[in-house]
Amino acid sequence: GDPRLQGISEAIRVVPHFPKPGIMFQDITTLLLDHKAFKDTVDIFVDRYRNMGISVVAGVEARGFMFGPSIALAIGAKFVPLRKPRKLPGEVISEAYVLEYGTDCLEMHVGAVQPGERALIIDDLVATGGTLSAAIRLLERVGAEVAECACVIGLPEVKKLKHRMHNSKPFLTCLALLGRACGREG
Ligand code: PRP
Ligand code: MG
Repeated sequence: GDPRLQGISEAIRVVPHFPKPGIMFQDITTLLLDHKAFKDTVDIFVDRYRNMGISVVAGVEARGFMFGPSIALAIGAKFVPLRKPRKLPGEVISEAYVLEYGTDCLEMHVGAVQPGERALIIDDLVATGGTLSAAIRLLERVGAEVAECACVIGLPEVKKLKHRMHNSKPFLTCLALLGRACGREG
């Protein structure tokens, strides 16, 4: 594999029992403090996506905002924030997704993405895939083609994402630099 991945993995702090008992929190703020590991992370994504005809990078609030803009600038794409409810001032479309307790929602500005654009969706981590699935639906509703989803970390729960993503058209992949990837190869 890529020799840079070990340094990236070591730069992510794992905090047991945060924010509640039993959760092993993957803290990417320590990755952002490590210039080499942060740059290596962005570079790996940029190398993969630079020649894929991607015109829009969509980042998921909040932690997708920490990687998405750097990737967008480097590959010559625009950046579109997918935000938590009631944060965007313009006209929005919304997609709800299921959490462990209750639901949450992502919103995107109408007009930010045109039909036929090729999109890359970026987040820090995929667990159940609920968040990414909502992001995919937002892009597809406005007629964009989602080329791929990419995260730094894939947790084992990502197996469930595979089933959700099978229902998406066209069939999609989620790349995870660390942990479990899913999709065509998954
Ligand atoms: C975390 C993480 C992903 C999502 C993954 O975000 O950053 O966005 O959960 O979980 P899933 O695959 O089960 O949907 P969170 O909603 O905690 O908020 P934040 O990014 O604003 O911190
Ligand atoms: Mg998040």
